[in-house]
Amino acid sequence: MIFASCDDKGVEIQKSLSLHSDQASVTVSSSAAALGQVFFSDPRFSRDGQVACSTCHQPNYAYADTVAFSKGVGRRLAVRNTPTLVGLPDDIPLMWDGGVTPLRHGSQGILAAVTAQHDMDMNPLDLERKLSYFPRYRAALHRLYPHHSLAAGYLLSIRDFVKDIALSSENGIHQSPSATSKLSLESRHSIAKGLALFRGKAGCVRCHHGPSMTDGRFYNLALDTVDPGRAAITLLEEDRGRFRTPPLRMLRKTAPYFHNGSAQSLQIVLQHYINGAGEAGQINLSRAEQSDLIAYMKTL
Ligand code: HEC
Ligand code: HEC
Repeated sequence: MIFASCDDKGVEIQKSLSLHSDQASVTVSSSAAALGQVFFSDPRFSRDGQVACSTCHQPNYAYADTVAFSKGVGRRLAVRNTPTLVGLPDDIPLMWDGGVTPLRHGSQGILAAVTAQHDMDMNPLDLERKLSYFPRYRAALHRLYPHHSLAAGYLLSIRDFVKDIALSSENGIHQSPSATSKLSLESRHSIAKGLALFRGKAGCVRCHHGPSMTDGRFYNLALDTVDPGRAAITLLEEDRGRFRTPPLRMLRKTAPYFHNGSAQSLQIVLQHYINGAGEAGQINLSRAEQSDLIAYMKTL
């Protein structure tokens, strides 16, 4: 990670600039996570043997996908946009509607991905049986998780790898100072102004804050009328159309944006906030301010 400091009301701001690191480099922290990394790209544990986590969470695109809706088993379309896993905090509820317990509390998020009809469409019994056909996987799982079933070990190892992916933007980005020195003075100024807008006039920081730029709460940004969002979990009418604030990380790589993939570019995301974004309100920005804000977002 490289740090550029700039003067904002006398406060020194440290901002990570990752303009030249196009792939999130993941530091695998344990042998469990290393095994999880192998499972992450192995399609054999999906119902039709064709779909792995990496089919949708693509390493080259910050573990997100390039289309609004990814294709899972049987080429079934997912119903929401595939989120990046980079920067995912381990203490916020998972999924756009927050329906799954945080990574910190276990592997429920991984189980949800493995069993979802639109994803890998597996069930735990078939998973156990399939894993038992592979002597090397079986031996590795027995060694790492002597007191768990094969399927439980599989889920836990992937969970550990996902936690390493989540940290990758913090500890994996190239340290090279050349990334900052390659930026013109003008673009450094633009990024600094964008950051000030993000925190100040544009008010983005109200919801996008903390290490991963998310408060882990739910808002209706007036994007969709079909998807019930948070209301599907709480059954409260006031939660209809509310979705969890997503982490903002490696945005250069994760288009399209929003839970329904309806924004093809950061310009379109910003235009939505300018037009009035439901509970996020309406903002007013000049053309120059918009490009500063976008320049800043591209450094995240
Ligand atoms: C067919 C595409 C697809 C596949 C395959 C897939 N995912 Fe996902 N993943 C998604 C989508 C879409 C969402 C968002 C679902 C929602 O919010 O309803 C998601 C959400 C997640 C989340 C929660 C992210 C967040 O911000 O809360 C995690 C963690 C995750 N997936 C991990 C995995 C793992 C691990 C695998 C493999 C075992 C996997 N996914 C397989 C598409 C996929
Ligand atoms: C009231 C809380 C709130 C405020 C204020 C807010 N956001 Fe968001 N932001 C959200 C929520 C919630 C979503 C997801 C909405 C959805 O998909 O339905 C989101 C989504 C996004 C996304 C898409 C990320 C992705 O991975 O799909 C970007 C980019 C973004 N916001 C940037 C901004 C910027 C820039 C501002 C300031 C102009 C801002 N946000 C202000 C809550 C907020």
